[in-house]
Amino acid sequence: MGILVTGGAGYIGSHTCVELLNQGYEVIVLDNFYNSKPESLNRIKQISGKSFKFYEGDILDRELLKKIFADEKVDSVIHFAGLKAVGESVRIPLKYYHNNITGTLILLECMLEANVKNLVFSSSATVYGYKNPAPYFEEMEIGNCTNPYGQTKFMIEQILKDLCNANPDFNMTILRYFNPIGAHVSGLIGEDPSGIPNNLMPFITQVAVGKLKKLNIYGNDYDTPDGTGLRDYIHVVDLGRGHLCALKNLSGYKVYNLGTGKGTSVLELVSALEKVSGKNIPYELVTRREGDIASCYANVDKARKELGFEAEFDIERMCEDSWRWQSENPNGM
Ligand code: NAD
Ligand code: UFG
Repeated sequence: MGILVTGGAGYIGSHTCVELLNQGYEVIVLDNFYNSKPESLNRIKQISGKSFKFYEGDILDRELLKKIFADEKVDSVIHFAGLKAVGESVRIPLKYYHNNITGTLILLECMLEANVKNLVFSSSATVYGYKNPAPYFEEMEIGNCTNPYGQTKFMIEQILKDLCNANPDFNMTILRYFNPIGAHVSGLIGEDPSGIPNNLMPFITQVAVGKLKKLNIYGNDYDTPDGTGLRDYIHVVDLGRGHLCALKNLSGYKVYNLGTGKGTSVLELVSALEKVSGKNIPYELVTRREGDIASCYANVDKARKELGFEAEFDIERMCEDSWRWQSENPNGM
């Protein structure tokens, strides 16, 4: 089975490619390295011991997509390619709408033309917006996203729903990820942000490794047990496995949360990382970050019942793997 993986050189894509190759899928990666490095592909090969096809290019490049669908035997597409920096999406919204939405539209048009009917799409818990209370259920009304990045995910979900309504033979599964952290146990691939990280875990590990001086904790006055933000962290390898479950169960238009169902606070994550690394993580409590919500965690029943998916790794293991990746690759790839 040939799987076209857009954004396969990125953080979640690379871990998913390893799982796909391990399970004997034929993998074709398309990436423009906007937010990843070619070395990531070598490391996927090193871990899996398998080779795969790679196209360097953009999902906005219609001619390239046509060529890929003509030359390769693609059964399904896993569509990771997208921009994801929340703050930047507020400053430069059109860049996000163009890359994420126009890019997805071009991909879908080329799939239609090539008669490729199966898609797994990377959505985000951010589509639940700021009005729904956690835990989030797939049936909740979505929208009210706090930033243009979130809006692109919300809009693409709607596009995929309309496309499936018009084409009942299409199979499209939307996966709403909660907060992926961790890295492959080999220490060879992991999250490799350029510049100062926006997300909590890479920030913490860069403080622990001495690249950054201290962590700013955005708010300790939230309505949560210790006042800091509560998130549903999921190991990126579990997340990758979730995509295989989704691929095996493709049937019509479906939406699933991929999380653990458990909330962990900022302070709890800091102390878990301190424990596994043996490092002290200096932090300062500062004001809330605009657009943040108090609590975000999943109800995971639907993915368990319908996909047979359950996250295996706990917070300690997530921290161990994130720390191994950071300490063995202090400057990324
Ligand atoms: P990432 O930036 O590491 O990976 C995305 C990959 O897509 C990168 O390799 C990048 O170079 C590539 N890419 C971007 N635009 C492209 C384009 N126009 N053409 C070709 N390649 C392009 O991000 P990630 O964390 O692996 O996220 C993967 C997907 O999951 C994204 O769609 C993201 O929005 C979504 N998601 C991520 C998170 C998270 O916290 N990491 C949470 C929810 C959803
Ligand atoms: N935080 C800090 N200091 C930091 C970074 C984060 O205190 O330097 C806190 C945040 O306030 C929040 C928690 O750590 O309470 C997690 O923050 P992240 O930035 O790691 O993650 P978010 O939940 O804000 O956002 C993530 C992804 C988004 C996605 C969203 C919902 O980055 O792409 O989850 O899925 F939309």
